[in-house]
Amino acid sequence: MPNIAIPPSGRSVLITGSSSGIGRAAALHLAGQGYTVLATVRRQVDADALAALDHPNLVPLCPLDLTVPAHIPAIADRVRVELEARGQRGLYAVVSSAGVGTTVPVELMDPALLRAELEARVVGPVTLIQALLPLLRAGNGRILWIATPGLIAIPYVSSIHAPDYAVNCIADTLHLELHPWDIPNVLIKCGGIDTPSVERTSRELDEALSTWPAETLALYGDSLHRTQERLARFDQGRTPPEAVARIIERALLAPRPRRTYRIGSGSRAMVLLKFLPQPLIDAIFTRMV
Ligand SMILES: NC(=O)c1ccc[n+]([C@@H]2O[C@H](COP(=O)([O-])OP(=O)(O)OC[C@H]3O[C@@H](n4cnc5c(N)ncnc54)[C@H](OP(=O)(O)O)[C@@H]3O)[C@@H](O)[C@H]2O)c1
Repeated sequence: MPNIAIPPSGRSVLITGSSSGIGRAAALHLAGQGYTVLATVRRQVDADALAALDHPNLVPLCPLDLTVPAHIPAIADRVRVELEARGQRGLYAVVSSAGVGTTVPVELMDPALLRAELEARVVGPVTLIQALLPLLRAGNGRILWIATPGLIAIPYVSSIHAPDYAVNCIADTLHLELHPWDIPNVLIKCGGIDTPSVERTSRELDEALSTWPAETLALYGDSLHRTQERLARFDQGRTPPEAVARIIERALLAPRPRRTYRIGSGSRAMVLLKFLPQPLIDAIFTRMV
């Protein structure tokens, strides 16, 4: 295939989690570049806010809560209708961005929250991709997964990283299984990105630290306070979500996208870490606890 960028016009991209952060930045940027953006959100108020922007290429789709199985076939039907209305044969891309996550030791993790995060980041997206694959085949499409930078265990963030290990596995497996139809799966590995999730996770940890009983604080309090301080320093260097949006655009324009794109503070350092011997990695990260 010649290395000529694939033009946006006449192509639709579905983005999950478009109410906020990376998903929202990507939705606005790609709509501005000429893609039709099918921007999924959970709440009507967020759909209304996107509609109020009055951008002809921006189509809010609501509700899509990835933890609610019934939402997925309904959204797939809406996608079909929107594509037909524009005379498009298929869907050009899905960008799986929705997700939350908390900073908490595994011992104190709320199983219901972990289950919800696994649903939002793994089970829901897989079910959505299953429902959209006929349209992706028809649109010579591609699938982009927003992920964290590396498969390395870091204390207190496993509710974010555990789904991420699964996302990497699903993306890599789909890349192989969908090879006969040339549907690439691309990992957009993001370092620290400056989104509303940063303030939210910090606030939630503050709240937890102020409500845990003394015996829990005796176990984890000091270490988590040090984690808060370290994160506050890291947060000062975070990358704006618009930079991720531009990388997503690059992965959409490329006739042959790379398997992995990296963006955001700390993302490249994680590549180097992976080459260290495991005892050295353990030594680095046990200093955090
Ligand atoms: N920020 C970073 O530094 C960073 C780094 C690497 C990877 N990531 C990944 O990037 C993705 C987006 O994060 P962000 O930083 O942009 O966070 P964000 O600003 O909090 O946005 C998260 C989005 O996901 C949506 N969402 C959450 N749970 C959902 C569910 N069950 N069903 C459907 N949508 C749901 C949220 O919708 P509501 O508004 O309705 O809550 C929101 O639109 C996440 O998967 C995250 O793990 C972030």
